[in-house]
Amino acid sequence: MFGFFKKKAVKKTITFNYESVAVDMHSHVLPGIDDGAQTPAESIVLIRKMMELGIKKIIATPHIMIDFYRNDRESITNALNILKAELKKENIVIDIEAAAEHYFDETFEARINNHQLMTMGDNYVLFEFSFISLPPNYIPVVEKLKSLGYRPILAHPERYTYMTLEQYKNLHDWGCDFQLNTISLTGYYGKEVKAMAEQLIDNQLIDFISSDMHHPRHVAAFRDALRTTYIEKLLFDYPLKNKMLL
Ligand SMILES: [Fe+2]
Repeated sequence: MFGFFKKKAVKKTITFNYESVAVDMHSHVLPGIDDGAQTPAESIVLIRKMMELGIKKIIATPHIMIDFYRNDRESITNALNILKAELKKENIVIDIEAAAEHYFDETFEARINNHQLMTMGDNYVLFEFSFISLPPNYIPVVEKLKSLGYRPILAHPERYTYMTLEQYKNLHDWGCDFQLNTISLTGYYGKEVKAMAEQLIDNQLIDFISSDMHHPRHVAAFRDALRTTYIEKLLFDYPLKNKMLL
C-alpha cells in the first residue's frame, strides 16, 4: 500500500494586525482623482477595511503625474473635503490627512523649486520612480530635496526591478528613506518583487510600511501580508517610522 500523506496546506492564522504601525501613509483612497477609489462610497469600503486591520490614521497620497493625473494642492484638498464629509455622514471616526505620491517625471524638479510639494509629517515627501528605468538625475534631485529641508521617501523600492541592492543601499545612505508595500510580501507583484522586498528588510533598509491601497484586491493582499514571516520581522523589533506621522 502506498501512503500518500500529502501535507495539507494550512493557511497561517492571523494573530496580530497593523495596530503597532498605526499610520498608513501611502494610499489612493481619495475619491475620483487618480486610479484608486473612484467614488466616496468606494473610499469608505477601503477605509473601513483598513481600520479593521488596525490602521488608526490614514495619510492619503494621490498620484501627481503630469501625463496621467494632473493633481495639485487644490484638487487633492477638494477630494479630501469630499471624503471627510462622507466619513462624517457614515459616522466613521478616523484621522485622515492628504499628501501626494509625486512621480519622478520632468515636472518633479520644477515642483520642488516652486514649493509645490505635498508633504506629510515633518516635511516628508513621498515620491516614486518610473517602473521602466531609473531617472539619470535621481541623485542630484534627492540631494536638492534634502538641501531644501525636505525628507525624501521613495515609495515601494522593491518594485523597481531595474535597481540593484547596491543602488538601494547607496540611495538610502544618501538620506532617502524607503517605504515598502506590505502586499509585496505576498507575491502580489510577482516573485522578483517579493524577493527584493525581503532583501531590503534583511538589510535594514525599510523605514515605513504601507498599503498603497487602490481597490478591494489590495485589501485582501494587505490582510494576507499579515500571514507572511517577513511581516513579523517588520512589526516586531524593526525601527519603523510610521508612528512619527501620528
Ligand atoms: Fe501609490
